[in-house]
Amino acid sequence: MWFGVVSLFPEMFSAVTESGVTRRACEKGLISVTCFNPRDYAYDKYKTVDDKPYGGGPGMLMKVQPLRDAINAARAKAPAGTKVVCMSPQGERLNHSLVTRFHDWGSIILVAGRYEGIDERILQKEVDLEVSIGDYVLSGGELPAMCVIDAVSRMVPGVLGDIRNAEEDSFAQGLLHFPQYTRPEEIDGDKVPEILLSGDHAKIRLWRLQQAVVRTYERRPDLLQIRGLDATELKLLCQ
Ligand code: ADE
Repeated sequence: MWFGVVSLFPEMFSAVTESGVTRRACEKGLISVTCFNPRDYAYDKYKTVDDKPYGGGPGMLMKVQPLRDAINAARAKAPAGTKVVCMSPQGERLNHSLVTRFHDWGSIILVAGRYEGIDERILQKEVDLEVSIGDYVLSGGELPAMCVIDAVSRMVPGVLGDIRNAEEDSFAQGLLHFPQYTRPEEIDGDKVPEILLSGDHAKIRLWRLQQAVVRTYERRPDLLQIRGLDATELKLLCQ
């Protein structure tokens, strides 16, 4: 999976390229993250990357020319036909199905805006989709872009290793995760549910499914409404 990133703060992306699962994915060549900094395409003495908004008002916008040149540099390095996604609170909300779609593309250019935003004409001309990670405003699109990189990378075969795969991730199942426990068996009188110590794998599977369904019903009923339950699950739950 090829990720191109347009950002004024490329060093922030070391959080994904130098830590954890995504670092290993980079090392194995399963994903790559290439940054394009608009500042490298600013040719005035001060390397200006911001500009005033027409109509006045507080704050600055990203300067058009360096941003556009950085996007075009990313396109030139990307596989042909790579789509450009701009991180923005005005965008479509990121969810599991969008993450799956990005993974299926095989490559993606993520634009991380700064300041108060990006000229509307650039969004119309250069960007295929705007994506938001939630209804709150961050100081830039870098953290949202890293959310995309992390979530999409987990879907790339081999990234999660042999023991588990992305299909087991909770949202791939359309349910929240069941509660999990590790040692010790007891914390301040709170015990691990007996069934998890039973060694009865069929019963444990059923218990986990029940917990996941109840939890989803209590915390995110909207998810259950979309997904429903399949015949096998209903049979298990009604036993
Ligand atoms: N940039 C600033 N806030 C954002 C958000 N919530 N989602 C995506 N990009 C953003």
